[in-house]
Amino acid sequence: MVAPAAEESAGAGVALALGGRLISRRRFLGWTGGAAAVTAAGAGTGLSFLPTESVTVGGGAGRSSRSAVSVADLRGSGSPAPGGTVRRQMLTAKKATVRLASGREIDAWTYNGEVPGPAITASQGDLIEVRLRNVDIEDGVTLHWHGYDVPCGEDGVPGLTQPAVGPGEEFVYRFRADQVGTYWYHTHHASHIGVHKGLYGTLVVTPHDEPRADGHAAADQLDLALPVHTFNGTVVIAGGDGRTEHPAPPGTPVRLRLINTDSDPHRIVLAGTPFRVAAVDGRDLNQPGEVRDVGLRLPAGGRYDLVFRMPDTPVALVVDDDRDGGLRLRPHGEVPGQARVEDTSALPELDLLGYGVPAGAPFDIRNADRHFTMVLDRGLALVDGRPAYAQTVNGRAHPSIPDQLVVQGDIVRFTVVNRSLETHPWHLHGHPVLILSRDGTPSTGSPLWVDTFDVRPGETWEVAFRATNPGIWMNHCHNLPHADQGMMLRLRYDGVTTPFGGSHGEGAGHGH
Ligand code: C2O
Ligand code: CU
Repeated sequence: MVAPAAEESAGAGVALALGGRLISRRRFLGWTGGAAAVTAAGAGTGLSFLPTESVTVGGGAGRSSRSAVSVADLRGSGSPAPGGTVRRQMLTAKKATVRLASGREIDAWTYNGEVPGPAITASQGDLIEVRLRNVDIEDGVTLHWHGYDVPCGEDGVPGLTQPAVGPGEEFVYRFRADQVGTYWYHTHHASHIGVHKGLYGTLVVTPHDEPRADGHAAADQLDLALPVHTFNGTVVIAGGDGRTEHPAPPGTPVRLRLINTDSDPHRIVLAGTPFRVAAVDGRDLNQPGEVRDVGLRLPAGGRYDLVFRMPDTPVALVVDDDRDGGLRLRPHGEVPGQARVEDTSALPELDLLGYGVPAGAPFDIRNADRHFTMVLDRGLALVDGRPAYAQTVNGRAHPSIPDQLVVQGDIVRFTVVNRSLETHPWHLHGHPVLILSRDGTPSTGSPLWVDTFDVRPGETWEVAFRATNPGIWMNHCHNLPHADQGMMLRLRYDGVTTPFGGSHGEGAGHGH
């Protein structure tokens, strides 16, 4: 794939060498001037909360004078779709000592005293209404619906879409469950601390005509939501440390919904059966083929739905090649502890860019209206006003990275280049992105729509999406400590403003 155009570097403060093409300083300065003009034109639109008021336009038009809409007014529907119901839930954030399955206790930050928090389930078309209360998380909390394209005012980013919910306060989230699939929720305030300590849970929406996915196999199926989280070095799957056993009669249709709630990728192996990766990040793949004896790499924040029919022999879910832990499914009559699992560490990794069958693109990806390049690196930069050895985007760190400006309806293309030595799980709020290519090699399998993709050291990814969800959206690395160290910015729709911005970049939502 050809090197990205120069305009994306406007305002970035660095000249970039990309794909062997060095952007001249002169050209760079020219574009910087353009960004300054845009900024001047944007003055007076109520955006003064920005510490350094700047946007990058990705080759599209700059800010217009269109009348402003506040994110506070971009709220969810008040009613379910015809035939749907209202799913009410109260989530109370509080500190608690939680006893894991093994009897081990952890000091956690929880929703309702549980880790993970209560499973939220719905059928497509239901209205989800969640009342969040904070008891004693001094710093404040929110609920962000990871991967769920809610209206921006429900997105749970403190200082951007709402104020943080302090002790004694509450906030009610309301949105229609229009998207089917596997998602999760988590706090978005100081999330590198809060999510790590346990402020997360699962969100599963099933098609209208299917039974609920609550793990109780309403019909004769087994459907498990399995968030994978690390507490003090121990992998905990859906609240269970050590090994978890489940009975599963032969022939049972099984769906395992894996969710990585950590900041590092996990390696997942399903041993003992062929299976399909039916969905990635909640979205169904097109004709996913049966595979076996492969490893799957699940990015931080990402989800895989694995489906198969239970054989009459045991099946093992192995995480990070730890054969003693994980999950065991046993056909009836099996003696617990009996099944041996072979060494899984040498199994090849399944490349999802070549998995499944292609289908027509929903838009013409060669004619993007905007094209933004994000070069990820480490370096000295200001993070929330303080010099730090930061995680940077185009040489800058939050909140000094210019907002990416889009207009509703735009086809937007991202080029994400990782020049650092660490993996960056890139995550855009409010929109799934379509994977176009990795290191210049086009995606050849099923269309792959994700909300989080792992950009490993040295890699370049091209993705695209259509801007159909007005708001101001976080666009960040989902290694949450990286986000805290500066690796986050905002995608802003022209004309959308926020009344919640402070002056120190709390718009981050990952701040202190
Ligand atoms: Cu899962 Cu900005 O977050
Ligand atoms: Cu990162």
